[in-house]
Amino acid sequence: MTTTLITGANKGLGFETARRLIAAGHTVYVGSRDAGRGREAAARLGAKPLLIDVTDDASVAAAAKAVEADGGLDVLINNAGVEGRREDNSVIGAADLTAADMRTIFETNTFGVVRVTHAFLPLLRRSAAPVVVNVSSGLASLAGITAEGTPAYAYPGLAYPASKAAVNVLTVQYAKAFPEMRINAVEPGYTATDLNGRTGTQTVEEGAEIIVRMAQVGRDGPTGGFFTQAGPLPW
Ligand SMILES: NC(=O)c1ccc[n+]([C@@H]2O[C@H](COP(=O)([O-])OP(=O)(O)OC[C@H]3O[C@@H](n4cnc5c(N)ncnc54)[C@H](OP(=O)(O)O)[C@@H]3O)[C@@H](O)[C@H]2O)c1
Repeated sequence: MTTTLITGANKGLGFETARRLIAAGHTVYVGSRDAGRGREAAARLGAKPLLIDVTDDASVAAAAKAVEADGGLDVLINNAGVEGRREDNSVIGAADLTAADMRTIFETNTFGVVRVTHAFLPLLRRSAAPVVVNVSSGLASLAGITAEGTPAYAYPGLAYPASKAAVNVLTVQYAKAFPEMRINAVEPGYTATDLNGRTGTQTVEEGAEIIVRMAQVGRDGPTGGFFTQAGPLPW
């Protein structure tokens, strides 16, 4: 059984992933940027709460220190993410996107992955079977967003797909750098969560499937790939 950290696990796909991994017998840290929300979620799940804001170097360093002192880490799930929708749930399109909008999304979705991975790498390298799961998006697939007539093609946003495409590149490069680890990107599918104003068409139970599967991938499992529950996705 492994010890797993899931960032942004106080709700949504991260919370459901925690529930499933705990049910399978794993020890889980529920990462949350808010102490109260994290404590409450961890108590409901029977998990360990961990205060971690992926945009904050000091917060991430303190979280890594706490996990190290508590015994280490086998599985890191980089799940915390933002889509950057407006108050009315609309997506910022090409005409309105500013560099500041872009920076905000990248700070969490992309730089957050690097910040957390870098801080927890020493712990993962001490694990007998280290695993990293990067929660990406189907919108990160260039093949997907150029396939006319599909929902991915019709999505008007720029920052979110770009931030997740960068996560896919990070996944490939980390996987090549650390062949002893299993490091994969996953696409949960369009899931009803606060991220999209609950407009997603899947349940969190369905969306979490591939995250849970890749978190438990064996030592002979794939690495450096991009997967949905149905199988590999084109980049
Ligand atoms: N829902 C979908 O259709 C879908 C599809 C493809 C990929 N994804 C990806 O799945 C992942 C989970 O999203 P979700 O749909 O479950 O959305 P969600 O319910 O909004 O959950 C997002 C989580 O990320 C946390 N978070 C945001 N910024 C953070 C920060 N700076 N530090 C730490 N935690 C932070 C949130 O915390 P707070 O509660 O404090 O805001 C929340 O716990 C994201 O990476 C998302 O891009 C979702």
